[in-house]
Amino acid sequence: MASSLVGIDIGTNLIKLAVCQKGRITGLYSEPVPDDLVRDGQIISYEAMSDFLKEVFKKHRITEKRCSVIIADELVYVRYISMPYMKPEQLKINLPYEFHDFISEDKNKYVFDYAFINVKEGGDDSAGELELMAAAAKKSVIADYAESLKHAGLKLAAAVPYVMTYSNIIREAESRITEVENNGVVREYCFVDIGHTSCRINIFVGRKLVATRVIEYGLNMLDSAIAEAEGVDIHIARTRKESDFNGVLSSETCVNVYNAIAIEIMRAINFYRFNNQESLLAEAFICGGGGKIAPLMDVISANTDLAVIPVESLTDCPKEFIKDAELFTCAIGAARQ
Ligand SMILES: Nc1ncnc2c1ncn2[C@@H]1O[C@H](COP(=O)(O)OP(=O)(O)OP(=O)(O)O)[C@@H](O)[C@H]1O
Ligand SMILES: [Mg+2]
Repeated sequence: MASSLVGIDIGTNLIKLAVCQKGRITGLYSEPVPDDLVRDGQIISYEAMSDFLKEVFKKHRITEKRCSVIIADELVYVRYISMPYMKPEQLKINLPYEFHDFISEDKNKYVFDYAFINVKEGGDDSAGELELMAAAAKKSVIADYAESLKHAGLKLAAAVPYVMTYSNIIREAESRITEVENNGVVREYCFVDIGHTSCRINIFVGRKLVATRVIEYGLNMLDSAIAEAEGVDIHIARTRKESDFNGVLSSETCVNVYNAIAIEIMRAINFYRFNNQESLLAEAFICGGGGKIAPLMDVISANTDLAVIPVESLTDCPKEFIKDAELFTCAIGAARQ
């Protein structure tokens, strides 16, 4: 494990940084992203992002240079692959062919990477097997991120797809659970990231990603609802939301939005259960800004049959950072390479 790394989650509304030194979280920082710098998870201007990163690192006096940046789902293909055991050199040659259904262009334009979920080397009488999460991204995309960081005086140590950050968190959490405690049962993990513009649900069985669903509902809906109900501009509405001004987060206006979000989450879960009849899924980890809104958690608990579990139980966050574990889940996962 590298000694120090800054996990960076660039959202539409907030940038989240998790500084990890010698495997321990030593700082969590967030800053509002300038308007229109990020759209649909994608960076609109890498040059402006570079200036912004420089500013944020300076403001928080972060001296670590090695960064592990999350790349938007739209820019990366991620696949779960199960294949006969092979050595890393062979795997490197074979990996691009596993993506032939997704990538029709020249494969040389892509970089491929993987993380093992399970390795069975096999013996004289049994064939070995590999289970891995593999990812492919365009070289030009990785180069854009690397260049943007370089101009900010930083170094791109890793580019991580969102789903891999959860997988890293599960790996760390499971490494703390003994086989006996786990009773040999493979646990289902449901992460619901309620962000500014969307809500992303990722379900894992152990470290294997089994379902992904993106709902185009986010906390910006609260901004519009508050702005309309209170006759204020959208930025003022956002400030009122973030400071729970006059208890606005418990108002009927906001509860209506929570209900709409909860119904969509339940729909996605029902769809998953329908397709996975053996599923015993009963709990969800809420991440992102949504995790900061207690009445929203209550509505999700009441309107879905999922128990909302604090994500801190997985992240091994030092005490002083526990209250921020939800917002920083992906940044922490990125720093846990
Ligand atoms: N303490 C708080 N109370 C209420 N809302 C909050 C609080 N802190 C942050 N938010 C809201 O959470 C949202 C930001 O959350 P998050 O960082 O998960 O989104 P994002 O990653 O920027 O968006 P997306 O994932 O959609 O690109 C914003 O709408 C912000 O106003
Ligand atoms: Mg986000």
